[in-house]
Amino acid sequence: LFYNASHCKLIIDVIDVNDNKPVIEIKSASANVAEDSKPGTMIALINIYDLDTGSSGRVTCAIPDNLPFKLVSEVKNYYMLVTDGLLDRELQPDYNITVTATDAGSPSLSSVKVMSIVITDVNDNAPTFTEREYNANILENKPVGTFVMKVNAEDADDGSNAKIHYQIANSEVSSFLTINSDTGELFTLRLFDYEQSVHFQIKVTARDEGGPPLSTTCTINVFIKDQNDNSPVVLYPVQSTGFIAEDMVPVEAPRGYLS
Ligand SMILES: *[C@@H]1O[C@H](CO)[C@@H](O)[C@H](O)[C@H]1NC(C)=O
Repeated sequence: LFYNASHCKLIIDVIDVNDNKPVIEIKSASANVAEDSKPGTMIALINIYDLDTGSSGRVTCAIPDNLPFKLVSEVKNYYMLVTDGLLDRELQPDYNITVTATDAGSPSLSSVKVMSIVITDVNDNAPTFTEREYNANILENKPVGTFVMKVNAEDADDGSNAKIHYQIANSEVSSFLTINSDTGELFTLRLFDYEQSVHFQIKVTARDEGGPPLSTTCTINVFIKDQNDNSPVVLYPVQSTGFIAEDMVPVEAPRGYLS
């Protein structure tokens, strides 16, 4: 039994079919950008490639166009994600950007990757009081340390940029009231006498901890309220029984009218 062996060379041309999806590589899957960043600030570098050859390996990359970001490519297959418009953390604190890479094969294949962008806070909002002007009443003769009222300011920023401290701004009344710098609660520092003063104004500043800090000042109109602490003085007729009388005196009353 003989075997007749022979050799032949077989050359096979493998024709590429578009069987590889594009690959998206993002150096970091999330990135931070400050809300005051200028347009054109780079956020991330994206590398795309495709293992296919020819048109099946030619890839383009895109993001939705309704975002304050865009892709810029200066080197083939590399895209920079940059800011393209104004950012405002108080309006939108984060974005999830869908990056799509599509090859030019037929049919074409595409891949998507979602990138999250966190907008970091800048101290761009001053504290605002719930009212520009407040009214408060203090009953005369109340002991030192009596609660008067509480002012409240809000700050739209984040973290220490939104942390508020209160202080009295007009020093001429700083011996009248004291304020809790954290809570905005005002307390008396002395007794008040309606017969000496019925009204004074106090200004309170709310300042945040941003660098530099921002502040706002409000006005409080404080009214001293009478307590019935003075017995009426009876002018005429002179009473010896403790009976209290009232009398009207005309403006043009001549001297000695009541006597
Ligand atoms: C982005 O995705 C995260 C996680 O899924 C989600 O918590 C967040 O609300 C999303 N942000 C926006 C603006 O869609």
